[in-house]
Amino acid sequence: MNNIAIVCSGGDVSGMNPAIKHFVEYALSKGLTPYLVYDGYEGLIDNNISKANYSDVSGIINRGGTKIGSARSERFLAVKHRQQAKDNLDALGIDKLVVLGGDGSFRGMAKFYEEHNVAFSGIPSTIDNDIVGTDYCLGVDTALNIIRTSLDAIRDTASSFKRAFVVETMGRDCGYLALVSGLTSGAELCLIPETPYDLSNYEEKFKKELASGRRYFLAVVSEGITDSSETVAQWFEEKIGIESRVSVLGHIQRGGNPTSRDRLMAYRFVQFGIDGLLNGKKDKICCYSDSQFNYKSISDVAHKKHVIEKGLMELVEASTLNC
Ligand code: F6P
Repeated sequence: MNNIAIVCSGGDVSGMNPAIKHFVEYALSKGLTPYLVYDGYEGLIDNNISKANYSDVSGIINRGGTKIGSARSERFLAVKHRQQAKDNLDALGIDKLVVLGGDGSFRGMAKFYEEHNVAFSGIPSTIDNDIVGTDYCLGVDTALNIIRTSLDAIRDTASSFKRAFVVETMGRDCGYLALVSGLTSGAELCLIPETPYDLSNYEEKFKKELASGRRYFLAVVSEGITDSSETVAQWFEEKIGIESRVSVLGHIQRGGNPTSRDRLMAYRFVQFGIDGLLNGKKDKICCYSDSQFNYKSISDVAHKKHVIEKGLMELVEASTLNC
């Protein structure tokens, strides 16, 4: 069959729209008929699937989010709904899917493949950058740039007022966003779920710095740490003796127009994903590691705990960032 569809699943990322655009362009250039599935796996179940042409994806390359929507589908966990999805795909003659999502979405798709033999290429897409087997997930660069812009702005007000700012980033159980942002923004403190910490270790040092004229502190904390951001702010007030504020960046980290890197990576991932399907790969995740694209099996990607790259921790150790 020559029909292929693209679907976004889980948290959206900036980079999905360029991926959708290139999916349509590249599929057409290969003589395939591209289809768009709306609203994640929900759209597979509800037959919210339509044939696409160049005009359907024009003017979206610069937009964050996803034109075709995304969802975290509970229904796709049920056998009867996956059967419904298969019936819908059969009726349209679609036997290949490109899936933009995280490891949970890939696990769902792997189950679907086992049951119904619908081939898929998974493209890691999550701002958390927590998928094992790939150094890069779509959307990460845009999220990092949004955090950087926010931290630069917060530093301005922090220094004007002599305050400590505790800035909370997303990332679920992964501290990658916080760590890279802390490093690249020259923050004083970074707390991530992967590294146990004891705030009392920093008391003497921070108090001394304050006494020698330091005007502000920037602390970047990941949402997955055990303490709340408010607790960390309270620690600054009570133990270091500086007025403090909390700023939770929240979902602004998931939006915004995709950076050039995310646009290019979207193109590369999609092209690699379609090539894999055309070359007989049936259930692979497209990964980017050691500066190269490679196909990995679901067992190499899902069900494993992500660890932060050693080289990044070495940079932290040699910097003024306390982590
Ligand atoms: O996985 C992406 C992510 O943005 C996490 O960083 C965050 O914890 C979660 O999704 C938020 O999910 P929701 O958009 O459903 O609130």
